[in-house]
Amino acid sequence: MKHESIETNAGLLVILTLVVVAIGGLVEIVPLFYLKGTVEPVQGVHPYTPLELRGRDIYQREGCFYCHSQMVRPFRNEALRYGHYSLAAESEYDHPFLWGSKRTGPDLARVGGKYSNAWMVQHLIAPRSVVPESIMPNYPWLLSNDLDYAHIAARMRALRDVGVPYSETKAEYDANVKRFGARMADMLDINRAQANLIQQAQQGDYDGVPSRLTEMDALVAYLQVLGTEVNFNRYGEGYFVKFR
Ligand code: HEC
Repeated sequence: MKHESIETNAGLLVILTLVVVAIGGLVEIVPLFYLKGTVEPVQGVHPYTPLELRGRDIYQREGCFYCHSQMVRPFRNEALRYGHYSLAAESEYDHPFLWGSKRTGPDLARVGGKYSNAWMVQHLIAPRSVVPESIMPNYPWLLSNDLDYAHIAARMRALRDVGVPYSETKAEYDANVKRFGARMADMLDINRAQANLIQQAQQGDYDGVPSRLTEMDALVAYLQVLGTEVNFNRYGEGYFVKFR
């Protein structure tokens, strides 16, 4: 068929356009039905605790993702620098994900445990006081701002609505005990959100100021959990290959 006969016949053009768009749509939509099969079953990944969740909000508010990715790609140079490449399972409870698309600074997907809390605090207040050549901005207000956690339960509920297993009913709580263990299940209980948040901040003393609960507490708690949930010593080299 000559292309001209398609272009001069509006009805045929519409039908063929629809066919092409439908094929394009199927190619994008069908894989979504098999998404579960690409999320590696690994132990240790859990939804953020209330304090970490607030820290993540602050990470978003401050736009840290403009300069930092959270996605170690499966390349040798990245594995050598940052550790094991990021798993789909590690972003399972991220809404929205913060993979980022630009690395002005280093990837942060596995920054948890790399530095002490004190280093993190000092670095966030004044990056050049610990890394002289740094071009990262200062964030001194994180330490002076009290943490607002009034809406933490509502935030957890909103995430539960999109599938994150925070619990509110007894049945949901029991399911979490089976899935994450009793200690973590307590942390994921919406009814105890505020008490849990305060307790973790006091016990962790992330900002070095035990008498106050600051935004710094939440952000450092969040940074320190990034990439630490999966124990990669448990899994052999080949385990993840079949999910690629
Ligand atoms: C303008 C870009 C920029 C922004 C915005 C930015 N950073 Fe950075 N960040 C950098 C650069 C560059 C470095 C590397 C030099 C250094 O360590 O300070 C860095 C380093 C870091 C490190 C140390 C990483 C490592 O592995 O050594 C952490 C942690 C960090 N940033 C956290 C944050 C957080 C949290 C925010 C948001 C509050 C943020 N950054 C915002 C540019 C940025």
